[in-house]
This record gives sequence, C-alpha cells and structure tokens, in this order.
Amino acid sequence: MPAAFHYEEIAMSQSTDTFRSAAPIRFAYWVPNVSGGLVISKIEQRTSWDLDYNRTLAQLAERNGFDYALSQIRFTAGYGAEYQHESVAFSHALLAATERLRVIAAVLPGPWHPAVLAKQIATIDHLTGGRIAVNIVSGWFKSEFTAIGEPWLEHDERYRRSEEFIRVLKGIWTRDDFTFLGDFYRFHSYSLKPKPLQRPHPEIFQGGSSRAARDMAARVSDWYFTNGNTVEGIKAQVDDIRAKAAQEGHTVKIGVNAFVIARDSEAEAQAVLAEIIDKADPEAVKAFGREVQQAGKASPEGEGNWAKSTFEDLVQYNDGFKTGLIGTPEQIAARILALKAVGVDLVLIGFLHFHEEVEYFGRRVLPLVREGEARGAAAAAA
Ligand SMILES: Cc1cc2nc3c(=O)[nH]c(=O)nc-3n(C[C@H](O)[C@H](O)[C@H](O)COP(=O)(O)O)c2cc1C
Repeated sequence: MPAAFHYEEIAMSQSTDTFRSAAPIRFAYWVPNVSGGLVISKIEQRTSWDLDYNRTLAQLAERNGFDYALSQIRFTAGYGAEYQHESVAFSHALLAATERLRVIAAVLPGPWHPAVLAKQIATIDHLTGGRIAVNIVSGWFKSEFTAIGEPWLEHDERYRRSEEFIRVLKGIWTRDDFTFLGDFYRFHSYSLKPKPLQRPHPEIFQGGSSRAARDMAARVSDWYFTNGNTVEGIKAQVDDIRAKAAQEGHTVKIGVNAFVIARDSEAEAQAVLAEIIDKADPEAVKAFGREVQQAGKASPEGEGNWAKSTFEDLVQYNDGFKTGLIGTPEQIAARILALKAVGVDLVLIGFLHFHEEVEYFGRRVLPLVREGEARGAAAAAA
C-alpha cells in the first residue's frame, strides 16, 4: 500500500484542525444476506448468508463497536450471489436479535412503492425501539429489472425517481394530510398512523456517486454512501457534495465502502488480497463488469460508481480494495483517521470471514482509531 504512508503521517500528526468532525467515526458492516460473500472469488470464505450465521454476526458486531449493519437488496443475480434474502425482512430479524445495532435496509424504488415502505419501516421502528434505517439504491442491474418485469429507466431518470421517493418518504413520515403531485408518485391528503418512533424520521442513506447521485445527496439524503476509493478520490466527493449541500441549506454525512483485510503483518494481509484476486471467478467478474456499465458509466457525464474499475477492483463488489484498508491494525487505523480527516463520517466494511474478522477489528483496530481521535481532540483543544 505505498500511497498509505503520506496519509498516515497526516493522520498521526494530529496537530491541527485535520479532523473536520469531532464526532467519533462510525462503523458499519455489510450484512452477508446474499450468498458468496463480498468478493467474487473461489477463495475459501467462512461466511454464510443464512439467518443463524447473520444473527450471531450482528451480536458480535454490536459487541465489537459497530454502529450499523447494511443489508443488500437483490432480486436475482447472474454473476454469482445466487441466493438472496430480502433486505427489509432480514433487517428486522437482525434488529430482533440485537439491542443497540442500527440496521439499514436497502430498497429499490420501482419494485417498492414509497407508501408500502413508509408503512413497513414505521412498524419495524416501533417493534425495534427505533433502530431501523433505509438505503435508497437507484439500481444498476438492468437484467434484474427485466427479469421481474419492472420498467428500466435511464440513469438520471432513476435518480429523479429516487429523489421523489425520498421526498415522499419524509413527507409521509413527518406530516399529516400529506399531498404530493410528482412525476412518479401521487398522494392525496394521506396520514400515516402511527408515525415512526424516530424523530424526525428514520435515517435515509443512499448509494451511488454519479453527478445525479451527489446532487440528490446534497438536496435530500441524510447519508451518502459511495464505493471504495483513494483518500484523494473521497476528498473530492466530500468537498463537492458538502459545497452543494451548503447552497441547499442541507447537511449530509458521508459513508465509504472498504474491504478490510487486517492481519498481524502487512505481508500476511497482502497475501490474502493476492489470493482473493488469484482465485477470482473470471466469468462472474466479467458478467458483473458488464452489468455495472449501467451505473456511473451510463450517466450523462460518464462518471460514478464502477466507471473506472479494473478487473481487480471488480472482484470486490463495491471497489472496496481501493480504499486501502489492508495491512496491520496500525496501518488500517491510520488510514481510517486519514479518511476522517477529509470528512468521512462512517466506514462501511466487508470482510472475508465475517465472524472472526469483526472480532479482530473490534479488538485490534478500533481502539487505535479511538486513541487517534482522542489525541486529535486533545491537540485541537490545546
Ligand atoms: C454502499 C452501497 C450499497 C449499495 N447497495 C445496493 C443494493 O443493495 N442493491 C442495489 O441494487 N444497488 C446497490 N447499490 C448501488 C447504487 O444504488 C447505485 O445504483 C450504484 O452505485 C450506481 O450509482 P451511480 O451511477 O450514481 O454511481 C449500492 C451502492 C453503494 C455505494
């Protein structure tokens, strides 16, 4: 990880106002509710997509300092990920098995109508003491939409629909007699009862990094989730979104994907990465690579998630190797602090062997991050 060291210096110097946010950086993990884990590789993965495995994982995660879990929505997959549990139902099961963890359910406008989602989430919020959140994903997988007979909108139209979806969710969750006359959704004096427990409403995340995705985040989302990237790449997105959000009078938090390989030595961690890539399933990776052409690359500006991904990048579904959280606990903590220094609020993590590695992360990496944050806060106060 040659690029890491410059950032380690910045993060470890702790001398100035490098830390934009005084709040501790948050951690989320990807719920493996889809078979095959988080890499398209035939390497051994001691990860399962079933409920028992996932319940235990959620409990381990909340004991090891994770704040959130993010479930995935997939109706079918032609590139691996053959079996998929539905995200809202599965998220509820994980909430029922935990006490503090917040679970974010991914939802696709199109298959979901916002009235159905608003009602489902309000009920789950009451059943779980206010711990559910949603991730509005705009869709990149045309074959999936075709398979379920759902019309496929072009890239920026999908975001126009998602933005209406989010505006409607907020309206239903916070107002009575809600009326909305949009291009995609219409409501006439609708009052949802009961409203969700969380005020003003459950948190709304979104995934995507194209121009349309950033503009939507700057206007309506509580959180912006983006694919893995270098610290510079993330900084450019953060600066862009926060500047636009300020013009809109809106605030948005930033979450970044990363595939973490934390091992006692850097050589060990790099060897695991090399083995994952060496054992990649080339047909499945290429099939995934073809499908994701409908994401960022299909936007008017040709930028966004996967627009520049290489074969190696695509072996991890959301470019998680690029974030560079691969190495010793010290190296990883330093790089997380560097991400925080450029304005990241949350790191979303995929692992190879979730049970073991969530525990290792909580025990070995997280305390170093918290120590670094404390040093940064002390330096800022001085
Ligand atoms: C963290 C994260 C999670 C996502 N989860 C899902 C998902 O569960 N299902 C899905 O169809 N798309 C998911 N997406 C894809 C996005 O919603 C979006 O379609 C894609 O990133 C392309 O966006 P862009 O063209 O704006 O860059 C996710 C994206 C990110 C960054």
